[in-house]
Amino acid sequence: MTDGRALAREFLEQQRLLGGDPVIFSQTGSPEPSPQADGRTGGQADGNTPPRSASPAVRPSAPPTELPPPGISYDPPGGDLFSNDPVPQAVSLEAIAQLVASCTKCRLCEARRHTVPGEGAPEARLVAVGEGPGRVEDETGRPFVGPAGELLTKILGAIDLPRERVFICNVVKCRPPENRLPQFDEIAACVPYLFRQIEIVKPKVILAMGGTAAQTLLNTKQSLGSLRNLVHRFRGIPLIVTYHPAALLRNPNWKKPTWDDVRIARRLIG
Ligand code: URA
Ligand code: SF4
Repeated sequence: MTDGRALAREFLEQQRLLGGDPVIFSQTGSPEPSPQADGRTGGQADGNTPPRSASPAVRPSAPPTELPPPGISYDPPGGDLFSNDPVPQAVSLEAIAQLVASCTKCRLCEARRHTVPGEGAPEARLVAVGEGPGRVEDETGRPFVGPAGELLTKILGAIDLPRERVFICNVVKCRPPENRLPQFDEIAACVPYLFRQIEIVKPKVILAMGGTAAQTLLNTKQSLGSLRNLVHRFRGIPLIVTYHPAALLRNPNWKKPTWDDVRIARRLIG
């Protein structure tokens, strides 16, 4: 896909999937986003709000020329191989899933219908991490299969990564009641599973979707907004922070910045 028409087609498809700004075509046939004409306003000043570009002359179809600067490096110690803890000794994703299936390490085990350990390719180049299972995930035992999951599947497809080739999981493996935020002690109890999953998959890039995933994987309380647009590292693996797909369903203004983030992740994958 190198000629202008192919790029334009790709661009239009991305815009259709991700709900970007309307486009017009210039004389040369290259796609040109039109000025903001839909009367949308920016979000609240909550620290998570993406900057609005004053210039309409962005070309989202062109690959970003420069990678963002480095951010946080978090290198938590691995589990103790010589203790009685089976998590650091689990040698496969199936072994982790089995441990999760019988886990009662936190109160989230009480109301769950199914554990949701995660799914995808064991040799995935991308690990995408959300917050915790929602209603449909709890019913099916599969991650990201509800409305937010459908959007995630489209986003991954748009960067040429079918979801089967990604490993998709969450910080906590059981559904928090009423989809409340997982609490600190629940995250602390569950996170060894996630860390071991990442250790087993050895992805080229980690995509942290939403504040819970970003703050857990980077061991920080910084806001999502301040963590975006940097190349962080988790145990040396490049980590990109972006909005959670469920947040995108509530606020379409975040689709364009999310698209920028996932393209950076794609670029790091190579
Ligand atoms: N939201 C999440 O964070 N994870 C899921 O699996 C589904 C929705
Ligand atoms: Fe165990 Fe995690 Fe489920 Fe808590 S959320 S019971 S730690 S698997």
